[in-house]
Order: sequence, then structure tokens, then C-alpha cells
Amino acid sequence: MRASSPLRRFATLLALVVTGFPVVQASVPAPALENGLARTPPMGFNNWNSTQCKADFNEAMIKGIADIFVAKGLKDAGYTYVNIDDCWALPSRNSSGNLVPDPARFPGGIKALADYVHAKGLKFGLYTSAGTKTCNKAGFPGGLGHEQQDANLFASWGVDYLKYDNCNNQGVDAQQRYTAMRDALAKSGRPIVYSICEWGQSKPWTWAAPVGNLWRTTGDISDKWSSMIGKAQANRGLAQYAGPGHWNDPDMLEVGNGGMTAAEYRTHFSLWAMMAAPLLIGSDLRKVSDDNFAILKNTDVIALDQDTLGKQATVLSANGGLVVYSKVLANGDRAVALSNETGATATIATTAAATGIGGAPSYTLKDLWSKATRTTTGAISASVPSHATVLYRVSKSSGGATRYEAESSTLSAGGTVDANHAGFSGTGFANGANAVGSYVEWNVTGPASSLTFGYANGTAAARPVDVSVDGVVVATGISFPATGAWTTWSAVSKAVSLASGQHTVRLTATTADGPANLDYLDVER
Ligand code: GLA
Repeated sequence: MRASSPLRRFATLLALVVTGFPVVQASVPAPALENGLARTPPMGFNNWNSTQCKADFNEAMIKGIADIFVAKGLKDAGYTYVNIDDCWALPSRNSSGNLVPDPARFPGGIKALADYVHAKGLKFGLYTSAGTKTCNKAGFPGGLGHEQQDANLFASWGVDYLKYDNCNNQGVDAQQRYTAMRDALAKSGRPIVYSICEWGQSKPWTWAAPVGNLWRTTGDISDKWSSMIGKAQANRGLAQYAGPGHWNDPDMLEVGNGGMTAAEYRTHFSLWAMMAAPLLIGSDLRKVSDDNFAILKNTDVIALDQDTLGKQATVLSANGGLVVYSKVLANGDRAVALSNETGATATIATTAAATGIGGAPSYTLKDLWSKATRTTTGAISASVPSHATVLYRVSKSSGGATRYEAESSTLSAGGTVDANHAGFSGTGFANGANAVGSYVEWNVTGPASSLTFGYANGTAAARPVDVSVDGVVVATGISFPATGAWTTWSAVSKAVSLASGQHTVRLTATTADGPANLDYLDVER
């Protein structure tokens, strides 16, 4: 726990008494709140951005969200907390001084709702304010001066997450107010993620690591580009303060609420993941389009947010609205975001060396939105449309094999990228058309000494191909023998001698069955 200041004063006094000289104390970084929670940024839902205090904020909605978390794979993608915001309670405490759930919105009460959420393997979160009342005019009594009674009530209901707001705070010092609730939650005996929501007013990043698991760094987000990008700009300089158990919070997600373009929502999600921000879905998932679900369920982007190292991205450069972010990942990879805040398409560039990953002859860049992979000897650059963000995962190729997934290949007419047979790498495999002459082609970077093709062939007969490089056949009738099942993957290698630079590698089927299903091409130096 925290070094208590009376103890420190005593230690200094002791040093004075013993040595006769004042001692200089080394400055100790503020330790994190050690409640063991939020080792990666919290992921879940909060109703505020879609409903505020309107009537559709109610029990049916929240149960519906929990149902959708399970049914639509959000739970599997890591979303865990189903949180409710302001206006869940009545404007007055009861005769015992306890908060009372609004019976019109929550006829079953909060405990039954938390039970429902828990039964789905999810966690439940609640809201109140570190003031005499919450924020909304129709709000309810806040926690100031009632910290232990309210914390105990929340724990008895099975609350797993508390958002503690800043309205009607009576001018009481923020550290004092938020520390009082921290201590009350600890005494309640239930592990509760503690979300400090004082809008960045007293620079909580400088003092809140030992107090809360996350702290808002900004005022409220709204569902438009200027608001969202403003939050990113305010939050992105605070990387040094974030880490496992204690995160900067630039506010909840707006993805799916309808006020931004698809590119802007992808930028929003990309930057929140880069900044290791909490990913709290703020749209009514009962009404969200498949396109927005796809954004929220991009597991490659979520993996950046949830990376166990817990580093927030830093800004490598920001020139006239063209911004490069870099995030160090636990396995040594880097995530790089090339983000265009301007009104026109622009080229944004950096280098592998600038991210600190340097030292390899080449690097693999995986575009986490298009899923295409390519290799580079160091340049990281893209043409980025207005308000869009290109997001790469950068890994060292280190002279070994560089993998090119079949998802990034070109197929002749009739070929498709499929995912219906398990066991492939990446997100799918190439299912070439069943015809003589049907082909699968990759663009690769040399030099290379061998090509290895991952494949499956669930028929009884081999599926031979010719291999050509840059349009010249280098091998004929290479066999891709039966593997026994379409879910059983094997590999075929071919020695080559490719000079450095770009090349096309094409496999062309020589029988009417077409090529085997192809998973990847590994290019060995
Ligand atoms: C404040 C918070 C918001 C929301 C509202 C509820 O504005 O910052 O996130 O909780 O209160 O009234």
C-alpha cells in the first residue's frame, strides 16, 4: 500500500536525531492501487453515451446488453463489465439512509440485475458521485459523507465496478473525496474496480495511481469527430502515468452511436486501443449495425489495448495534424498508428528504428484493419485518408521466414478467401477455383532462398501446381499431396534464389481440381 506521510515524517525525524543531519529522501514513484484488479484496461459497456437519463435506460436494456455480449461474441472478445450510469436510483435515500433503485426503471432492483449479469459470466458496474448529488438534475444523492454505507450496499448487491463522478462536490479536495471511497471499497470486502471520474480537473494522473484503477483525463465525450479527437489529443501525452492496475481514461466509446463516419469510428477505436484506454462500449448494442460490431470485435486491435505489458502509446511525431503513435508490446512487437486529423488525404511516415524495435534486416507490417501483411526493411508509411488511421503491428522478420497469409494473396477468378475449415493461421485461407490455370499469387520481398506453402488437401488425389516467380515458371508439377482432411494442414517447400526487392510468386493449378487450399507463404532469407 501507500507510504503514509506521517510515517515518512517520522523516518525523517529519526534520521535527523540519529545522524544530526537531514537526509535527502529518494523520490519514490507513486505505487499503484494494489487491489489486484484491472491488470489490463477494463472492457465492457456503459449506457450513458446512448441513453443518458432517457426512459430507455432500464432493466430490459441492460439485460439485453448482457444477452448480446454472449450471443454476439463480445464476451469472447474480452468485453466483461456491464455498467450502468446516472439515474438508476430515486432522488432520496430511504429511512435507513440507503440509496433506493428507481422501481420504474429497475423493478427487480439492482441485486437481481447484477445476479442476471453474473449468471452470464459477466461483471456488473454501478455509478455514483463524490458529491452531495449526482450530475443529472433528476439524479440521486451522492456518496460524499456516505462512503462506507454506500460501498457496503454496493458490495452486498454484487457490484464489481464503481464509477465515481465529480458533481456537487462542495469544493472538497478531490484527493480527499476519492481516497475516502477507495478506503470504503477496500473495507467493503468485495473486489471492486474503482473508476475515478473527476474529468482531469486536478490532474489525477499525478496522484491517483494509488487511489483508483482508472481516472478520467478529460470532460465528457460526445458523438462527433471534434470531441473524440480532442479527447485523444488531451490524453495522448500522459503515457508515463498508465500501467497495469492504473489507467488514463479519455472517456467511453461512441462507436455505433451514428454521429461519426466509419473511418472516424475506426480511428476512435484504434487510438483508444493504442492509448491503453478502457474500452467501454457506449452504444445501444440492440441497434448497432454489423459494420460497427466488426469495429468493436476487431480482435487484433483489442489485443493492442489488452497487451499484458500495459504500456500506453507515445507520440513519435505530430506535424500539422498528421500524428504517429507507437506502442511497445509484451512480445517485443510495436503497434504503430498513422493518424490523419486533417481534412485531406496525406502520406504519413515513420521508421521501424523510430519505434525502438530496430536491429532486424526486415520487418513484417500487419495492417490490423485490412489484415494485409507486407515486409519492409524499415520504412513505415501509408497514404491515409482524412480522419482515418492506418494501424500496423510491426514485428521483426529477423532474417528468418516472413509469413504472407493467403488473406493477402491475389486469386484468379472464382477463387475465394474462406475460413470454414479450422486450423489455419491468420484469419483464413485461399480456396482457388477448381480449374486448370486457376492461381494464387503473393507479392513478397526478397532476398529469399526458399518458399514454403502451408496447405490442406482433403481429397484423395494430389493437387499439383506450377510455380512462377515474376511471371517465369521456376518449377513444374509441384505436388500438394492429400493431407487426410481439410482441417489437416501441412507444408511444401521449394528452394529458390530471389534477389532483394519485390517479387510476385504464383502457384498455377495444372489439374481440373485446382490448387489445394493455401494457408500462407513463408519466405526464408
Ligand atoms: C458526468 C460524467 C458522465 C456521466 C454523467 C452522468 O457528466 O462525466 O460520464 O456519468 O455525469 O450524469
